[in-house]
Amino acid sequence: MSKLGKVYCAILAGGSGTRLNSPVPKQFLMLSGKPIFIRSIEAMLADERVEELWVGANGDWYDLALSQISEFIGNDSRVHICQGGVDREGTLLNILNSIAANNEVGDNDIVLIHDAVRPFASKRIINDVIAEMEFCDACNTVIPVNDTIIHSSDKKKVTGMPDRSCLFAGQSPQGFKIRALMNAFETLDPETRKTLTETTKVCFVQDIPIHIVTGEFYNFKITTPYDMQLAEAVLAYLEAQKSE
Ligand code: CTP
Repeated sequence: MSKLGKVYCAILAGGSGTRLNSPVPKQFLMLSGKPIFIRSIEAMLADERVEELWVGANGDWYDLALSQISEFIGNDSRVHICQGGVDREGTLLNILNSIAANNEVGDNDIVLIHDAVRPFASKRIINDVIAEMEFCDACNTVIPVNDTIIHSSDKKKVTGMPDRSCLFAGQSPQGFKIRALMNAFETLDPETRKTLTETTKVCFVQDIPIHIVTGEFYNFKITTPYDMQLAEAVLAYLEAQKSE
């Protein structure tokens, strides 16, 4: 019998996508006829335990997000939208505050945080994160590192070669007990907050244990123009697998 409460989802869609260098932030670009962030939303909604899903979108792009949701998802009472923030964690905080303002959040309620530009989260990954949340307050999706990792403090010479067997790359979704996460943000010192690029670090710096589940190499974050080509190829590969 599950001890978990309500399952929420936060789709972080407030970024500007400067590295992809397109006039529209990458999450709103079409991938085989459907906006990337819509594919990310659909992946999360495919798990029926997700009862409420919030999208954080920024300023100028808020209306575009709203209209793409209306066009591609239609009227789904689980889907909500709020303003994004100045950085990834700012967008997340706005979503958490929106969830808390609209719900009575319990100790066992969880949130699955997912990058809008990671359209290939599989059912298996989402299921594994939810399952692991029975045993922890924070959980990250990771993949092993296949290449040798080189450390170079001056970016000219090799200064270290860490043991690859203990190294992983972080993905999303990431799972958190909402109240524990909000509490961790509230008690975080402002200097550390400024340097955050990763939600699980909020927990790490406060000694909250973070469990890990295995992601997939194809669950990558669309970042550069090259990634758009790769995403089209991955989509074709996943579609072909479905029809086999
Ligand atoms: N994100 C967000 N709000 C922000 C910044 C980022 O919700 N203010 C989201 C992005 O929309 C994306 C995820 O966080 O889904 C990861 O962001 P990343 O791709 O690293 O950053 P972007 O700002 O989107 O891109 P870039 O760094 O190239 O400008």
